[in-house]
This record gives sequence, structure tokens and C-alpha cells, in this order.
Amino acid sequence: MNLTPVNLLFEDSRPGRRCMRTPGADLKTAVKGLPMEERRDAPPAWPETGELDLIRHFTRLSQKNYAISTNFYPLGSCTMKYNPVIHEAIAARPEWTGLHPLQDDASVQGALQLMYDLAQDLGTATGLPGVTLHPAAGAHGELTALMVLRGWLDAQGDDQRRTILIPDSAHGTNPASCTLAGFKVITVQSSARGLCQVEDLKKHLGPHVAGLMITNPNTIGLFEEDIAEICALIHATGGKVYMDGANFNAIMGVARPGDFGVDMMHLNLHKTMSTPHGGGGPGSGPICVTEELREFLPTPQVVETDGVYSLMTPAASIGRVRSFHGNFMVLLRAYSYVKRLGAEGIRRVAENAVINANYLRVLVRDHWRVPYDRHCMHEFVARPTKEMRDAGIHTLDVAKRLIELGYHPPTVYFPLVVNEAIMVEPTETESKETLDGFAAVMIQVAAEALAGAAFLHEAPRNMPVSRVDEAAAVKNPQLAFRIRE
Ligand SMILES: Cc1ncc(COP(=O)(O)O)c(C=O)c1O
Repeated sequence: MNLTPVNLLFEDSRPGRRCMRTPGADLKTAVKGLPMEERRDAPPAWPETGELDLIRHFTRLSQKNYAISTNFYPLGSCTMKYNPVIHEAIAARPEWTGLHPLQDDASVQGALQLMYDLAQDLGTATGLPGVTLHPAAGAHGELTALMVLRGWLDAQGDDQRRTILIPDSAHGTNPASCTLAGFKVITVQSSARGLCQVEDLKKHLGPHVAGLMITNPNTIGLFEEDIAEICALIHATGGKVYMDGANFNAIMGVARPGDFGVDMMHLNLHKTMSTPHGGGGPGSGPICVTEELREFLPTPQVVETDGVYSLMTPAASIGRVRSFHGNFMVLLRAYSYVKRLGAEGIRRVAENAVINANYLRVLVRDHWRVPYDRHCMHEFVARPTKEMRDAGIHTLDVAKRLIELGYHPPTVYFPLVVNEAIMVEPTETESKETLDGFAAVMIQVAAEALAGAAFLHEAPRNMPVSRVDEAAAVKNPQLAFRIRE
């Protein structure tokens, strides 16, 4: 019999069920401070198992995950960079995990200082000094900023400006956030160079325009070269410019959006500052705004007076957008990232992200179609060539074949302005060897695609789930959980 401590079992009240417990513990008195009526009479019915079997079970489960700690993860726009383990060790310290957000300010000065300093650093990096750390994701930051814009418009007594202009290459969250905040959206066309088309933008300007939402670098991985002119045009018409800063990792430490005329932006700390993405969260999407808009930021804000940190509500605050102070544990990791790298290190992160993307683009461009084949920022978009498409190969086939070959596929079918897009973001944390290995696999898949479609159509052959009919799955989803016999 396995006698590891986890296997100390005793009989549950239900026949045939046995449970783990701490030997000798009296269930009614083991947890001090809990009212008697809330305490258990019987221990919980945990499944019986030994420690070794438990470890094997969870190790097997963890191996089913594809993770940045197992292989290359070139998911464009998602910035799947390495999250340093030391940040996890810092975040796990009891000095942080033991804090409660309702403690009084005097007993959490360190935590308040951390948030204050991080906000200062983000303000410095973006050139936009008003910062809230509250939003829980990039999309939440977008919504928060649009609410700030609404607050500002209301303060001007302006109830006419209810339209936001958005380039057609934008992430889907941009128009969704506008709609949620009560704005109408007008789409601005991209130019043949993949940039926001200034002439088309001009056609939509007028007293109804509250602002522009523009992603820079944009979702094609290109820097919006006309950004200063675009900002000036929006300002001249009386609107504000919101920059979707999801791709800030390509320019941080190099360029400051506040300097080229941006009024508000969000940062995805879970991308740019290497904090965990979570499964759709937990994330963090702080927004940074100009001095003029600062008074509309959510409450509370951390302020410092003579070395003492406290909380205050900005004069015209839009109110709360998140409980307490945002996702503090993510802020803690982002703070560790910023302080460990410093200004010089952050600049090198951006430079290396751009170098890695360009290196990979050049390695694969003779084998794949790269529609905007010029110097890119931190990511680039490729697609199957005409010969491949004529042979019946789609981007989905390429993605499935990459899974079979042990790689997480790049982002596919986004941005929508590129048909059959394959968007590759290597990030700065990958070595030349890894990039060479991925390029070799991409070149191999290109050759396979030209040799005959059937082989790619059947991929992946080596996964627990092979090719599924995705259209049928969307039309007729089976949402019930089923345990495999
Ligand atoms: C360009 C862009 N904008 C906004 C978002 C939304 O960010 P989040 O997923 O943190 O809500 C993303 C996310 O991928 C993005 O790539």
C-alpha cells in the first residue's frame, strides 16, 4: 500500500467512499474563527488516490497544454513572449498574497507605492501622464477610454459628437467597445500600403466625429507613418485620438504616442509587459491619457504627498470600472518587468521584437506570399501563394499541418483586410535557432502544399482530436461535457 501523506484515508459517511484528512484533526475545531454552524461535520469526499498517481495525472494534463514553456508560440497580435519565472516567485511572496484590498492606506503603503510608480512609468513611456491601472484587459481599457471621452464631451456640453472613425484593419474589439459606449462607427479604408488612408479619413471628418481609434503599429505589423498628420486632422475637427496600444511592444522606449498627438491609449500588460495571459483573463489593460483628460479617469487613483500614498477620486471621474485597484497581481509582475529592464532594457525589447519579425519575414518570403513585404514592426502577415490556393490549400490547412509538426500556428484569418492571413509574431524572447527552426518548417509546409493538397487537408493526424468540421461545430455546437469512456 502507498503510504504517502496524501493517502491517509478514512471512511466517509457514505458507503464505499473514503476521504483524505489530516490525522487527528477534529473537524469541528480545526478551522479557528469559523462559526460553529458553518463548520463541517464530516470531511469532504475527495477521490481516493496516492500522491504519485495524482502527480502523474496532473503532469499528463499539463503536457497536453501547448505553452510558451514547451515550444515556439508565434501567435500574431497576442505577443506570447516568455514570462520570467522570477516574476512568479515575486508575486507569490506572502507580503503580497497576504494583503487585502480593504486594508487601510497606512498598512499598504508598499502596494500603493508600487501602483503609483508603475503608473508613473507607463505615463513616461507613453507620453500620456494620466494613468489608470484598473481595466482588466485591452478591450476593457478601450471601453474605459471611450467612457472618459464621453465624460469629456459631456463636460463640454457636446451631445453631437457620437461617431468614432476606425480603420478597416482594426481588431474587432474596437468597434465592439464603441457600440458598448454608445458611439456609432464609421470605417476608414486602408491604403494599398496597408496604412490608414488619409484621403478616405478626410471624407468622414465633421462636427459629428468624437474621435478616431487607431492601432499603431497596426494589425498588419506596420507603423502608421502618417500618424502625426492624422492626429492633427482629428484635433482640427474637434475630436480626440485613441490609440489601441496592443502593439506597443514594438515601439516602447523608442517612440511616445503622446508626442505624435495621441490623447488616450491602452496597454495590454499581459502582452507588452510579459504577464500571464490567462484563459481570456486575468489580464490588465491600463489606459494612459493627456493631462486634459486626467480628471475623468476612474476612481480611485493613487496619489503621493510628502512620501505618503493615498487614494483619491478625480474631479470628474467616470466612477469605478473594476473592483478595488484592478488586477493587482498582474500589476506586480508588470512592475517587476519594468524595473528589471529599465528604460534601456525596454528599448532593446522593442528593437529585438522588430529584428526577430523582420528576420523571419525575410526567411519565408520566397515561399509564402507576404503582401506588405517591406520593413515591418514586431509582426508580419503572410498568406498561401496563388499556386497553393489554386491547388485548394487554405490557411486552415497550413495551421493544422503546423500543429502536426509540433508548432502552435500563428494567428490565422486576422487581420480581415488580408485574405487567408497568417500573422506571425515571434517576440523578442526567441533565439535565432528557434526562428531558423520555425522558418525551416514553414518552408517544408510550403513545399508540401505545392506537392498535393490531400496531405495537408488531412492534418493533423497525430492529435487526440483530428480535423473537425469547424463550420458544423459553429452551426450546431455540442456544449454538453462528456467524459470519454
Ligand atoms: C490590436 C488589439 N486590440 C485589442 C485587443 C484586445 O485586448 P484584450 O484581449 O486584452 O482584451 C487585442 C487582443 O488581442 C489586439 O490584438
